[in-house]
Amino acid sequence: MKTELSKNGFIHLTNQSQEQLQSVINSLGDVIMTTDVVVKTESKGMVTTALGLDYHTDHHKAKYILWYCYKQTDKGGESIIIDAEKVYSKLSLEFQEELKKINLFEHKVFPDDQEYYPLVALDEKGKKKFYYSFWLVKDEDRSNVALREFQKIIKETDATEIKLQEGDILIVDNHRVFHGRKAIEGSKNRFLKRYWIVESNKNL
Ligand SMILES: [Fe+2]
Repeated sequence: MKTELSKNGFIHLTNQSQEQLQSVINSLGDVIMTTDVVVKTESKGMVTTALGLDYHTDHHKAKYILWYCYKQTDKGGESIIIDAEKVYSKLSLEFQEELKKINLFEHKVFPDDQEYYPLVALDEKGKKKFYYSFWLVKDEDRSNVALREFQKIIKETDATEIKLQEGDILIVDNHRVFHGRKAIEGSKNRFLKRYWIVESNKNL
């Protein structure tokens, strides 16, 4: 599973029981946050609106994001994924360097969260690690030409589209791929459980 994750940046498993879900989670690491992804009609929070969501990463502390599908809406709600590494590699070296200088505001979730976090960093193994929660881009960086080009390539890139069904698991490497979703329409009774997972020392 880890091999496929590191090859493609994501993995889609179908028809998984609760026991299988637990063992998949355990094999990935430790859960640092669990969230119910449901539609709340009056919601202003992004996770719980029915609107589509553009490509992004979640909190950088989550190495993996795992969604378990309990219920899917009858129209829309597809998960979309693109490979950030591929998008980045299409940029000129000059633009790649420029992106390394951009810091985004950080999600304020955990007590030790800092003010900013870089769009491109290196992880402890020297691999590139992306942090792109686009709504947290600082105002002064919004017109940055390298960032604009990055966003243009994101738009032009074909996504992998997956409509999760009951019992399905989707795992993404949150440091390597961007995820989003299409608008949730129809019955809107979609219910996913989302887990933010860190790699634990026991798996190293
Ligand atoms: Fe997300």
